[in-house]
Amino acid sequence: MPSAPRILAFSGSARSESLNKKLLAVAVEAVRAAGGEVTVVDFKTLPLPLYDGDLEDASGLPANVQTLVTLVTQHAGLLIASPEYNSQITPLLKNAIDWCTRADDNPFLGKVAAVVSASPGAFGGIRSMTLARQLLVHVGCHVIPAQCILPQAHKAFDEKGALKEERTLKSVHTVAAELVRVTGALQPSQA
Ligand code: FNR
Repeated sequence: MPSAPRILAFSGSARSESLNKKLLAVAVEAVRAAGGEVTVVDFKTLPLPLYDGDLEDASGLPANVQTLVTLVTQHAGLLIASPEYNSQITPLLKNAIDWCTRADDNPFLGKVAAVVSASPGAFGGIRSMTLARQLLVHVGCHVIPAQCILPQAHKAFDEKGALKEERTLKSVHTVAAELVRVTGALQPSQA
């Protein structure tokens, strides 16, 4: 029997009350329900310094960056929640991806990736999500077409962190199922 597709999940916001972390948590459960095995990274507990070429020249990849590179390498799929700052992806997310691409072997090459995005605004972070997808393709990922945005995200969750609207939950499950399916299909040549 083929092994469960291994998915690494992280959010581009480390904020304790992050709406993107909440959406990610829902998506993680959906991936597990679809048969994926998920590891979640929280950049609050795995902080990365801001990329600095002098730092890299002096001491190579920082320990937490090496940990992240290893985690990306050990997983066939990525589930990323991308918050939006000034119509862009967050510095945290860009910095994490930039650091990882400085490893001897680009860990993103051939990974299957899915992006979701939550924002209190009307557009649900779609500009950020689009840029995150573009960046992931650029670093070598196969980004699945299915995507999920969550506008008015500050009103979207109940006190237990569940999505109030069935329609949104359905769209999260669609992304999760497709991520697991495509990751599983490509896994044998990548694992
Ligand atoms: C924002 N926010 C925001 N939202 C949006 O939909 N489009 C945008 O361009 C911006 N710009 C922006 C800039 C900066 C500097 C901040 C701090 C915030 C609001 C943002 O989506 C909101 O704070 C989210 O709650 C951030 O994501 P987390 O931390 O809740 O996951």
